[in-house]
Amino acid sequence: MNTPCSTRLVSTAAEYAAIAQHWKAQKVALVPTMGALHEGHAALIRKARELADVVVVSIFVNPLQFGPQEDLSRYPRQLEKDMALCDSLGVDVVFHPSVEVLYPNGMDNLTRVIPPSQLTDGLCGAFRPGHFTGVATVVLKLFNLLRPELAVFGEKDAQQLAVIRQMVADLHVPVEIVPCPTVRDVDGLALSSRNAYLQSAEEKRAALLLIRILREVREAALQVSEPLPARETLDSVSQRVIADFRQQEGAAVRFEVQYLEAVDAQTFAPATVLKPGVKLLMAAYVNQVRLIDNLDI
Ligand code: PAF
Repeated sequence: MNTPCSTRLVSTAAEYAAIAQHWKAQKVALVPTMGALHEGHAALIRKARELADVVVVSIFVNPLQFGPQEDLSRYPRQLEKDMALCDSLGVDVVFHPSVEVLYPNGMDNLTRVIPPSQLTDGLCGAFRPGHFTGVATVVLKLFNLLRPELAVFGEKDAQQLAVIRQMVADLHVPVEIVPCPTVRDVDGLALSSRNAYLQSAEEKRAALLLIRILREVREAALQVSEPLPARETLDSVSQRVIADFRQQEGAAVRFEVQYLEAVDAQTFAPATVLKPGVKLLMAAYVNQVRLIDNLDI
């Protein structure tokens, strides 16, 4: 016999409001997700559980943040498994709305939150036009519908976290943003729902190049007393690590760096030298799978 799930699954704002009215003065934490939950999400949920009385997880694959050529239709969806994980972690409510519930008037004439270009022109924003507008808009909608006191976001999506923080500050949104460190597997690969696309052992080994490159750049930066120039160091370390990989593995797997940058960890302005306070960020393709990662110096 299946044990009953004590996590409530709701799909409309009215259902949610009916439950939330009983929470009175309790502190509510939200963990916004697109589902396909893994240990990285579990860490966000545990953090929310520590800090609040009531934990709400939203699961919504947000069409507004996907470009026309991106993986919206094949993004992994596994509600039953996600519910079981949420239940095991003591989540009170999973909010799983349809596109019609979140975008009742469609997406064409929608009021949107446009984050400042200073934060979104570079890095992922340069390759995913409109992505952060889609993220900021849906997150503000979720905050308005679900009314959490705090919301937990992973540091793996560093640019997203910066965008959300700035939105909350600029628009006086009364939600505390709590960051949570990236969770990695034993080999160092940052956990991501998109890792599910990595099929072969070769692809998985290629995926480890992101963290290898980031760690080697950080080590190089920390070994010297004078700060190293950012661009030259990023380029020379990544070329060396990729060449080593090619020598061992051949060219069977495509590994293509989309960007590898150093920025000020607070402002996200480009950094010219590598020193503490600088964040290294990277996106790369392993065959057709786009992965991102980042590391602080
Ligand atoms: O990080 C994600 O999973 C998504 O971008 C978010 C924050 C849930 C918005 O759709």
